[in-house]
Amino acid sequence: MPKKKLLFLLAVCLLLAACQGTRKGEQKTSVRIGISLYRADDTFINNLQSIFEAKAKEYEQENGIKVILDIQDAKGSQNVQNSQVERFISLGCDVLCINPVDRMDASAIIDMAMTAGVPVVFFNRQPVEEDMNRWDQLYYIGVDAKETAILQGKMVVDLYKEQPEAVDLNGDGVVGYVLLEGETSHQDSLIRTEWSIRTLKNGGVPIEKITGGIANWERSQGSALMEQWLSAYPGKIELVVSNNDDMALGAIDALERTKTDKVNVIGIDGTTPGLEALENGKLLGTVSANKELYATVMLEMAVSCALGESPPEEYPLEEGTYYWTPQEILIRETRKTEETPSQGK
Ligand code: GAL
Repeated sequence: MPKKKLLFLLAVCLLLAACQGTRKGEQKTSVRIGISLYRADDTFINNLQSIFEAKAKEYEQENGIKVILDIQDAKGSQNVQNSQVERFISLGCDVLCINPVDRMDASAIIDMAMTAGVPVVFFNRQPVEEDMNRWDQLYYIGVDAKETAILQGKMVVDLYKEQPEAVDLNGDGVVGYVLLEGETSHQDSLIRTEWSIRTLKNGGVPIEKITGGIANWERSQGSALMEQWLSAYPGKIELVVSNNDDMALGAIDALERTKTDKVNVIGIDGTTPGLEALENGKLLGTVSANKELYATVMLEMAVSCALGESPPEEYPLEEGTYYWTPQEILIRETRKTEETPSQGK
């Protein structure tokens, strides 16, 4: 057969094969999801990952669609994460779930995804609006930071109203507090700090800041800072306001090491070790996101994107893009308040 004719036939075959793959109404029997975590050793992310994996298994069993997960750890490097995304696309992933390392720098990921036509569900670290508006196949799942902070403040305000002596531990009419903050570039750190403190003040708790510092979400860093503060301000600290549970647990580690008692510690996340500390009375309270729902929405969004369907209607998206996971206050002895509705804003 002449070479030209052979090439023509080959092109026709390829075209037919391509049409076959995208034929409308044809149900895929498996989906491949590429997941990149900013750091797999982050407790909250780790908790979420385990639930997500369990949900994927459940989904397979209930729907008869194989869900193949390729989970990678970006180990805090945006370059590593960009290479992971490139690889996911070359392996033919149908959708990506990305927990960006640098939320201000998601553009390279978006460029690659748009070129390949692969939808992206970002989570936990919110890319800037300008990036999110670039394509209608970009989604974000997270927890509304302002709502979290208001709940964190409210738990102390309510306690102070009921039992002032449980908050103003030395009874001098002033509550001396220290602040443990997460990464500076993270949307959650600034907003959580601002609104938590504002809620405490507006709620009538007579707080006075002793000091504060950045501990990057990490237990060991929280612990080191707290130990310094305990020796610099002996007897002054009555309350530790932490942007997350891990740093709060670090503060508790320092309290135990220095045999200091009578300090209230509050966190955010409701991680497994956080809930344990709550149960054994070491943590006063936390604001816990509904992680079951968080992971379910993430999985169902990803699968529907992979199947070329629109996002599931039971989980309403703000502006067609954002899903805000509900959260609740958990306070010592697991006294619960009502859960917030799905849309935080
Ligand atoms: C926050 C969470 C932190 C940490 C961080 C990572 O929302 O509270 O514990 O996981 O995300 O981006």
